[in-house]
Amino acid sequence: MAGAAGWGVPETRILSTEEDDMNDAVREAAALLAAGEIVALPTETVYGLAADAFNADAVAKVFAAKERPAFDPLIVHIASFKELSEVAELPEDIAATVKSLAGAFWPGPLTIVLPKTAKVPDIVTSGLSTVAVRQSGNVIFRAIGRALGRPIAAPSANRFGRISPTSAGAVEKELGGRIPLIIDGGACRDGLESTIVKIEARGEQRPLIRVLRAGPVTKEDLQKFGKVVIEKKITDQPDVPGQLTSHYAPLTPLLMFDKPEDFQPEPGKKYGLISYRGDPKAGYMELHEWETVEELSPGSGKLIEAAVRLFYVMRMMDEAGLDAIVAEPVSETGLGVAIMDRLRRAAVK
Ligand code: TXA
Ligand code: MG
Repeated sequence: MAGAAGWGVPETRILSTEEDDMNDAVREAAALLAAGEIVALPTETVYGLAADAFNADAVAKVFAAKERPAFDPLIVHIASFKELSEVAELPEDIAATVKSLAGAFWPGPLTIVLPKTAKVPDIVTSGLSTVAVRQSGNVIFRAIGRALGRPIAAPSANRFGRISPTSAGAVEKELGGRIPLIIDGGACRDGLESTIVKIEARGEQRPLIRVLRAGPVTKEDLQKFGKVVIEKKITDQPDVPGQLTSHYAPLTPLLMFDKPEDFQPEPGKKYGLISYRGDPKAGYMELHEWETVEELSPGSGKLIEAAVRLFYVMRMMDEAGLDAIVAEPVSETGLGVAIMDRLRRAAVK
């Protein structure tokens, strides 16, 4: 895509990672990152817009390309557990829990909030004394992290408030003309952003694991390691990062209802339905003559499939020229908690 005026980028290149292309793609991405540039990279959750986490100028470019407000801190990705000590402190009272969680879920879609080291520039954490850290499980991302030899700061590779990209094509639509390079690693395995947790020691009692953002690692997965509390609070207070109300939103209004009958279509308007599995028993399929219907998990109704397809389907519906999108709720168990979280945030005007 040709560069839009003002971004100082002649074009956005997309590099394949298929077979023989992999090594060149890794080398080129690492070289650009080392030179202080920003590059979109695949992870197992969603595509990230990466910068050298220790280079404040490079991180500033991430905020600019995304039009992200400075109060919303980035996640730092480490290439190995050893790298953790460069970016975060391990307070003694939670060290054992952090190690157990890392052992169980890293590399993978779990982000842990910890006190930051002085090496992490304030711009990365928006001035907070804590840093959100994870180790990505995507082999391409990991290879680039190892080649760079430094931690990578990377938020999702979308413009602020919009739907996270789960393919290189979706990144190009969001940031084409603003960034020099996208590494194409194919579709993301999980399709939803990582689970973010904060751990609190409670003396003799099991530690408290606060889920700040629901994601692929579920409450059920975490329960072995402590008492899990899902922060339900949806707020617009910038001092509660990651909890901004309107997020992951299509440009077309997305509507959700407590009961299907609450939907009151306006005459002449075009509505599309995001159905969980296309089952009329859910009460939505035959409620209205939908312009278009997309199923998250056609037929089978598997939450894991619905999670993978959610942002892809939201993007597709957004491009369908509708007046509004109606989304069926999914059951709020396991991965369904994260899916409902994203749908509710998308539905906030
Ligand atoms: O799966 C993911 O986490 C993806 C991939 C690229 O790794 N990244 C991602 O980043 O979703 P982003 O920036 O879109 O979301 C990160 C969230 C933000 O909402 C931010 O507020 C929160 O993490 N966060 C970052 N640092 C934090 C901190 N110190 N305390 C609490 N929340 C924090
Ligand atoms: Mg994001």
